[in-house]
Amino acid sequence: MQRELRDLLMETGMLTPDWETAFETVPRHLFLPEVMWPATEKGHITVSRTNDPDGWWHWADADVPIVTQWDDGRHTGSAPGALATSSSSMPTAVLLMFDELSVFDGARALEIGTGTGWCAALLSARLGEANVTSVEIDEAVADTARKALEVAGWHPEVVTGDGLLGWPEGAPYDRILVTVGVHEVPRAWIEQTRPGGVIVMPWGTRYSGQNAVVRLVVADDGTASGRFSRATRFMHVRSQRLDWPEFDDYLPGEGWPADTRSSTTDLPSAQIIDESDYAASDFAISLLVPDCVRTFARSPQGVQTMWLYGLADRSWAAVYFDEDSQVYQGGPRNLWDEVESAHRWWVERGRPGHEEFGLTVTADGRQEVWLGEPSTPVPHIVS
Ligand SMILES: C[S@@+](CC[C@H](N)C(=O)[O-])C[C@H]1O[C@@H](n2cnc3c(N)ncnc32)[C@H](O)[C@@H]1O
Repeated sequence: MQRELRDLLMETGMLTPDWETAFETVPRHLFLPEVMWPATEKGHITVSRTNDPDGWWHWADADVPIVTQWDDGRHTGSAPGALATSSSSMPTAVLLMFDELSVFDGARALEIGTGTGWCAALLSARLGEANVTSVEIDEAVADTARKALEVAGWHPEVVTGDGLLGWPEGAPYDRILVTVGVHEVPRAWIEQTRPGGVIVMPWGTRYSGQNAVVRLVVADDGTASGRFSRATRFMHVRSQRLDWPEFDDYLPGEGWPADTRSSTTDLPSAQIIDESDYAASDFAISLLVPDCVRTFARSPQGVQTMWLYGLADRSWAAVYFDEDSQVYQGGPRNLWDEVESAHRWWVERGRPGHEEFGLTVTADGRQEVWLGEPSTPVPHIVS
């Protein structure tokens, strides 16, 4: 690990003694390709080790996620592609998840989403490579990771396959670390974890790109339950990627549809999202309003506008956050009314943070989100 990153992680108190040696022995740069796309304030930029060695080393040592594959490998050229499909995760996000994983010497661990192989190497350094298996869905990504691991001197088992199935051959595991976002927790992970074992993953609904890290503890009865810790953003497992709603399917033709319901709101957008895009209010709304996706756009007049689309029907809403605060809604549900009710619910409960919410996966695979305790489920608001 380079000095700058090490110092940053030490300063934030995130690099615990438990993981310090592993991070020292497994430099991230060994797992980064010649051409890579770090996430910067200006979006993803192309950095080539040959053309810009100083820039390459700078970004290799920065606390940012670095895209290493676009468009499931169909992308060509050096400009960023459309959809980031593999990356070296952000170092502080990795540390946060390792912290939640609470490993112990000799624990058997399964990682889902090998990516560059960096996390698999870190786990190997901490637990011993014989105790680590990692599953990657993309064959080319898995091959590159195997080669990088070889060069770095680590030999965990890297399996090419769908991580949603886990890897039953190596079960039972004490720990499962998922370094790719999920909307639905597969039963396979719970079945392949020892009772008392821990599964850590970025989890979220389809409402926004925001996930939160959840730490599930597996019980004897086949359920798994635990709290969220912090907001995070991860790319999603292939089969759970959002199929983006097509605007024209919801609002065909010119102008507002005939059944449009118009009103106004006094809830400003700043109450819902913050600049980091990690607002707890937004997370809470994502839990309460089911089957809905939201996005922000600028109207032709430059007004910040929130669009909501129903995923189970053709409900839609548009909210213009200017002095008039106009709301337009159509379809069977009043999606903006649901968002307002969800926000009110969150305010009435004292504006709880991510860490006050939890998730239980039942023995029959249902997901129940709760606030405070598993006995107080978060309701779904449907108008
Ligand atoms: C954010 S990257 C993992 C980064 C890795 N931890 C690292 O630091 O290099 C997520 C990876 O999950 C993989 N992935 C997506 N869906 C998957 C699935 N169903 N099973 C296994 N891997 C999957 C992607 O191909 C991608 O390589």
